[in-house]
Amino acid sequence: MTESSSSPGKGSRPVTVTFAGIPMLEGAGVRLRRVFGQAQASLFDPFLLLDHFRSGDPADYVAGFPWHPHRGIETVTYMLDGRVEHADSLGNAGTIDSGDLQWMSASSGILHQEMPQRKEGVLEGLQLWVNLPAGRKMAVPAYRDLRAGRIPKVPVPNGGQVRVVAGEYAGQQGPIRNIAANPTFLDVSLPQGASWEAPLPAEDNAFVYALEGRPRVGPGAGTELEEGQVGLLGTGDRVTLRAAHASSRALVIAGRPLHEPIAWYGPIVMNTQQQLAEALRELRLGTFVRDREPLQE
Ligand code: CO
Repeated sequence: MTESSSSPGKGSRPVTVTFAGIPMLEGAGVRLRRVFGQAQASLFDPFLLLDHFRSGDPADYVAGFPWHPHRGIETVTYMLDGRVEHADSLGNAGTIDSGDLQWMSASSGILHQEMPQRKEGVLEGLQLWVNLPAGRKMAVPAYRDLRAGRIPKVPVPNGGQVRVVAGEYAGQQGPIRNIAANPTFLDVSLPQGASWEAPLPAEDNAFVYALEGRPRVGPGAGTELEEGQVGLLGTGDRVTLRAAHASSRALVIAGRPLHEPIAWYGPIVMNTQQQLAEALRELRLGTFVRDREPLQE
């Protein structure tokens, strides 16, 4: 008897459903693909949304994301190619370059803009929204700017490597810590023919997002994910990837589900309609930003 048939909480997690995303126009006119969003958020709890922008045509991205608010969530920006300049209502400013990641806990509220600094060539990146539990939605905002060089790169025994952003892989702890969702965020690159397996907390919701190649995910032959497809994972205590057809790159992301009510208006995600109305009222009055000195980690 195999481990996976003897206990539902054990074994390699199978892909239960896939999504290919839909084209969207966001910010001031950035062409991107929403891999999953509001309609799927309960499945991906605590993750609310995943956007992937990738274009070689500056007309698709130069407009950027001018000033907008966030409250009640965390936004994770992972740049794959190009540079985005970030500025916020508190005077913080910086850039996110290729390979860098910013984990921003908007919490009680920030106003910020995210503007591409590239005028030609390819701009590519991802933004993931992570929900905050009710007790943390109005906490002091925090920024975690992670340069590419600070992300541990762990070699895979039979070829490839894993960038460990958050959570643990092969005894290496990712630098993004003290996040409510207790997330795992791994960027896995495998040469053709290689396979890889890692433990994932059985109680977490988890998904795999295929960036390159067509990785097969799960036990046995697994489920093939096309580039740009996300596979939600079922129960089990580990994840298995195989680069069956071509060298592959995929994000493996997991987090502790909140099971809390969601009240969602654009970039603000709270628990009740009343909290949303309050946020919109504060935006009108100019009192939206409460904590003037966010934590910088
Ligand atoms: Co934003």
